[in-house]
Amino acid sequence: MTTAFHEHLKQVLTDISDAGLYKTERAISGPQRGYVTVGDTAFLNLCANNYLGLADDERLEHAAKNAIDDFGYGMASVRFICGTQTLHRELENDLAQFLGMDDSILFAACFDANGGLFEPLLGPEDAIISDALNHASIIDGIRLCKAKRYRYANANMEDLRLKLSQARADGARFVMIATDGVFSMDGTLAPLAEIRALADEFDALVMVDDCHATGFMGATGAGTPEHVGIKVDVLTGTLGKALGGAIGGYIAASQPVVDLLRQRARPYLFSNALPPVVCAAGIEALNIVREGHDLRARLFENATFWRAGLKRLGFELLPGEHPIVPVMIGEARQAQEMATRLFELGVYVAGFFYPVVPHGMARIRTQMNASLTKGDLERGLAAFEQAGRDTGVL
Ligand SMILES: Cc1ncc(COP(=O)(O)O)c(C=O)c1O
Repeated sequence: MTTAFHEHLKQVLTDISDAGLYKTERAISGPQRGYVTVGDTAFLNLCANNYLGLADDERLEHAAKNAIDDFGYGMASVRFICGTQTLHRELENDLAQFLGMDDSILFAACFDANGGLFEPLLGPEDAIISDALNHASIIDGIRLCKAKRYRYANANMEDLRLKLSQARADGARFVMIATDGVFSMDGTLAPLAEIRALADEFDALVMVDDCHATGFMGATGAGTPEHVGIKVDVLTGTLGKALGGAIGGYIAASQPVVDLLRQRARPYLFSNALPPVVCAAGIEALNIVREGHDLRARLFENATFWRAGLKRLGFELLPGEHPIVPVMIGEARQAQEMATRLFELGVYVAGFFYPVVPHGMARIRTQMNASLTKGDLERGLAAFEQAGRDTGVL
């Protein structure tokens, strides 16, 4: 039985590899930043979620070191037993205030936040209407909930209206629309103003996962709702991207929502509390973001410059304004070849292909960050031009 099982797994792995879909990992031997070290060589890094360049920011490192001295290293407890320090509550309050919500609740990751969100709040009498391109964690969270499920085509407001009508015709008690604020594979924004208007028309709630927006979208960095000037009912996000890039997720919402999640959300009740280093650095990240107009301006200047440069070279891009700039390739194998060639040329990027994007839509997902200079980006563009010609993409 064991032998047969392992033979089966080996065959699955061979099939993945034969299809050009096998993912490998390179080990970086230093901090996450604009240039990363692999072996003895520095590579221009164009694929981290380090939007504001805070992953190796001295102020965060300092806060983390102080937290070890003052609060120790680990928590060895879930929050409700003996795992809540003053730091946890301080970070939850800061996040809520920053995001304009009553309160927030921390999780080990946003994957857990999205996984634990729906099941305590909604039951079989209710409905969740989810964008087809939502992050895997939202999809999994919805699967764990007994509410009736509806799916609408990505950002398609006619389809959303149809699904809202269906949910109401089916007699749903409460209806929640769930969407990413930014679709992370494409770098496109959800049409939140239209979603809010439809939600109000059908008396529905709006949940937004703002992992790729908190800290830099919107005038103060409060994310996609601020960017378009609306309020949402539930906002989820991560400390693992713009806010320092370590780990940790949260849900920000009204007081009854957060209070019930503290009682019932399974990844909160049955998993260890965030370590104090992460909380202290998260608090410091929010301080920096509050004063972060220059960082945000630099990030978007870089995104505009990078996008224009790639377009000028003749690459096919998905249109948008976000610092995620996907370079469309098509076939997985060619995307892998392009990423390998770029690595040889000193640029660190990754090919994205099935199952993270649909078959035939493989791409190199580039991401800008505020710590990159124009010189860095010009170097990156030269490497993209060379690699594009060498692999037949251009
Ligand atoms: C849209 C979206 N939601 C949720 C997550 C999960 O966040 P975390 O890394 O905090 O688990 C990610 C990260 O990949 C994401 O891109």
